[in-house]
Amino acid sequence: MHQCGPSPRTYYLWTIGCQMNEADSRRLADGLTILGYCPAPRAEQADLVVLNTCVVRQGAEDKVIGRLSSLKSLKRHRPDLLLAVMGCFVGDVTRLQQQYPYVDLFAAPSDVDAVLALASHLTTQPPNHLTTQLPSSPVSAYVPISTGCDHRCTYCIVRLRRGPQRSRPVDQIVAEVQGLVSRGAREVTLLGQNVDAYGSDLPDRPTLADVLHAVHQIEGLWRIRFLTSHPADMSEQLIETVARLPKVCEHFELPVQSGDDEVLQRMGRRYTVAQYRDLVTRIRAAIPDAALATDVIVGFCGESEAQFQHTHRLLEELRFDMVHVAAYSPRPGTPAARWPDDVPATEKERRRQAVDDLQERVAGEINARFLGQTVEVLVEDRHKGKWRGRTRTNKLVFFADDADWRGKLALVEITWSGPWSMLGQVRREAKVPDP
Ligand code: SAM
Ligand code: F3S
Repeated sequence: MHQCGPSPRTYYLWTIGCQMNEADSRRLADGLTILGYCPAPRAEQADLVVLNTCVVRQGAEDKVIGRLSSLKSLKRHRPDLLLAVMGCFVGDVTRLQQQYPYVDLFAAPSDVDAVLALASHLTTQPPNHLTTQLPSSPVSAYVPISTGCDHRCTYCIVRLRRGPQRSRPVDQIVAEVQGLVSRGAREVTLLGQNVDAYGSDLPDRPTLADVLHAVHQIEGLWRIRFLTSHPADMSEQLIETVARLPKVCEHFELPVQSGDDEVLQRMGRRYTVAQYRDLVTRIRAAIPDAALATDVIVGFCGESEAQFQHTHRLLEELRFDMVHVAAYSPRPGTPAARWPDDVPATEKERRRQAVDDLQERVAGEINARFLGQTVEVLVEDRHKGKWRGRTRTNKLVFFADDADWRGKLALVEITWSGPWSMLGQVRREAKVPDP
């Protein structure tokens, strides 16, 4: 384990937003460790403060702005403090520099190296790749396989901030996963805004299925997930690969966004409800136990009550394991921001709540089927006195036991189920997948 010296440089890292930001923050923390930095519990005690930000909705952007203003007085009292901002808040840097002159660096989303270059100014220690032991990896770790996105969803600011899709070469991804496994990871989730389009920007055009095959060979890795998929880009080859490779979990994150063709068209989603339904049918035919999660936006510009009902009905029909629902939030610079945001906030909230209520019932019914069954759980950590882990289908399971289960595969008999989690009794350790 990396030991902090008597007076090491310290950093405080604040992260909000998607899994991509979490993955970037982990890479940054590793890089800072190599530079000799140690984490500080609070911004006030750090030499370097990094905000890794999200602006996908106004609510997230407001949190970033709040955080930035509270750091202004800290910087006034301690001008030697270094302050860096990365993530999707970073758009027009010149304008941001004028607005927040006390910030030392605005780094583009995922530009971890720019923050590390800033951090290296503060430390006199040479980077120590050979003797620094990086901290252990979480049992379940995120690995970006691509950044950016080539779609043009009209509500989305992410593609504006993260630019066109850039895929990482397969061998680079494999090397990162191997490193994480050697530090204790047993599961990886391969990340991209649209993992189904992975590789289309690389010279030899590898596919997500190729990445899954390559990562599958890594010894000591037990489970592989990937997200987010795009319904217009998911291939038969991918579905077959998930069905065939035992380490790849039968779990798909497939945002539908709306159950109405006209709304989908205005969102720029490039599929119809019928095509989406057909895709779900094909996935379920090939992988009967597949868990399906989706994203929905309610109250998009011009969404009528009848159009919202189409979404509600589709969710009821397809019965997802998980639905991430958000009220539409206009984002500057997107095409939809120029259209009237004509669904009142109270109505958006009513629709959001209606989807939540529906999903609570559906997920409760789906999970109740596990009562009395024994499921395989990869244990990630302890939470409020219980072990916490997930099934292959990404269901959260808790159990109490005195033994140390962290990073192990447990067979757990489910004794209680709710819509968002399940409780059980551990029976024994499961057999680990063959290398
Ligand atoms: N690439 C993924 C996709 O195809 O949906 C995820 C992109 S986005 C970062 C994650 C989720 O945020 C989206 O699926 C969408 O439901 C939600 N989202 C994006 N823009 C939004 C907006 N302007 N208002 C409300 N929700 C939004
Ligand atoms: Fe955004 Fe659509 Fe891409 S939601 S990240 S433009 S698939």
